[in-house]
Amino acid sequence: MVQNIFAGKKIVIGVSGSIAAFKVAGWVSDLAKEEARVSVVMTSSAAEFVTPLTFAALSGNDVHTGMFGQGKEDPMTHISLGRDVDLVVIAPATANIIAKLASGIADDLLTTMVLATRAKVLVCPAMNNRMYSHPATQKNLKILKELGYDIIDPACGMMACKEEGEGRLAEWDGVKELLAHSLSPQDLRGVKILVTAGPTREPLDPARFLSNRSSGKMGYALAQAACRRGAQVLLISGPSFLTCPRGVTLVKVQTAREMYDAVLAHAADSTVIIKAAAVADYRPETVYEHKVKKENIAKELILERNPDILLELGKRKKVGQVLVGFAAESTNLLAEGKRKLLSKNLDLIAVNDISGDTTGFETESNQILLISASGAETLPHTTKLHSADLLLDRVRQLVGEKP
Ligand code: C5P
Repeated sequence: MVQNIFAGKKIVIGVSGSIAAFKVAGWVSDLAKEEARVSVVMTSSAAEFVTPLTFAALSGNDVHTGMFGQGKEDPMTHISLGRDVDLVVIAPATANIIAKLASGIADDLLTTMVLATRAKVLVCPAMNNRMYSHPATQKNLKILKELGYDIIDPACGMMACKEEGEGRLAEWDGVKELLAHSLSPQDLRGVKILVTAGPTREPLDPARFLSNRSSGKMGYALAQAACRRGAQVLLISGPSFLTCPRGVTLVKVQTAREMYDAVLAHAADSTVIIKAAAVADYRPETVYEHKVKKENIAKELILERNPDILLELGKRKKVGQVLVGFAAESTNLLAEGKRKLLSKNLDLIAVNDISGDTTGFETESNQILLISASGAETLPHTTKLHSADLLLDRVRQLVGEKP
């Protein structure tokens, strides 16, 4: 079930001489676990902070340190290293390497390789805050941007020199997401996609509510995958412990009626709407202002129907809009999916079997039955992120087929 954007990708990590080099050892380790093919190039000062052996052990590959490496190196390493690679990441990037790259200096293996490669180069500055804010460094970063390098802004906080400010190496989680973005096809660039996720909570009193088992994982995975592929993503989510994926705009709601209002407010402006949320069909008729004493709770709860958001979206569907529904089913998946596809005027429905342990609610993986007017297809059992990508492949096709 290896389906991730990093698997098999050739990534060169260029390490320059900052104490933050030790953090990049963790990055290399994670990329290797994700099955990326990582090569590390170090400047001679980087090798003073972390030994090449550390990077060799973590990447599983030889580490390149010199142009002429005592006869061991291929004399053309500076050219071959950057050839046919998917991405080059300079981390940590010191003020010195930034200055050298800005003026096209090629006086060691790393700078020469960067000049010779045609892959996208991401630069992650890390240095003392005064060095970072110095006009020379800022001017050099501006030049790098103009030359087409991607700069990953450093973070603020306490530095190794015990000073506080901007200049700390960016955190890996955010950098990893930017790498994933750079490695993804930009086939949804600029497409406005609205995704709903998670359960809704229908309050009974300030302490109690009706809800369901949805974790939001599938919806958040869809938002993340679409954003990586260049879409402009608005995520409308019921209560969930998940973190909003980087680059995605999040609107949080509690109840079905709040979700209805939020979705309807943005629907007309969206090219694609994917309703992965598990919206509660009913809410308690009466919501008490204060917590009801258990002795006073009625044995029967009177419920009211919530609006069916997707049904409403189907009625209002605009020309060219792609509407995708989800259905959580435990029996008759195909028949139920087809019925909902037609009754809600959908272009695509993703049916989840919630009777298994490894698909549906709260799980990390999923197996989706995708149904459209042109037929049904069972997607492989895979991670939710990969399921999201497969579903988005179909969405992209549908967007292309629309007038
Ligand atoms: O009919 P059913 O509730 O099974 O359909 C599920 C689909 O309808 C999901 O895409 C869900 O987000 C959506 N839905 C909705 N509003 C509701 C109930 C479900 O938008 N009140």
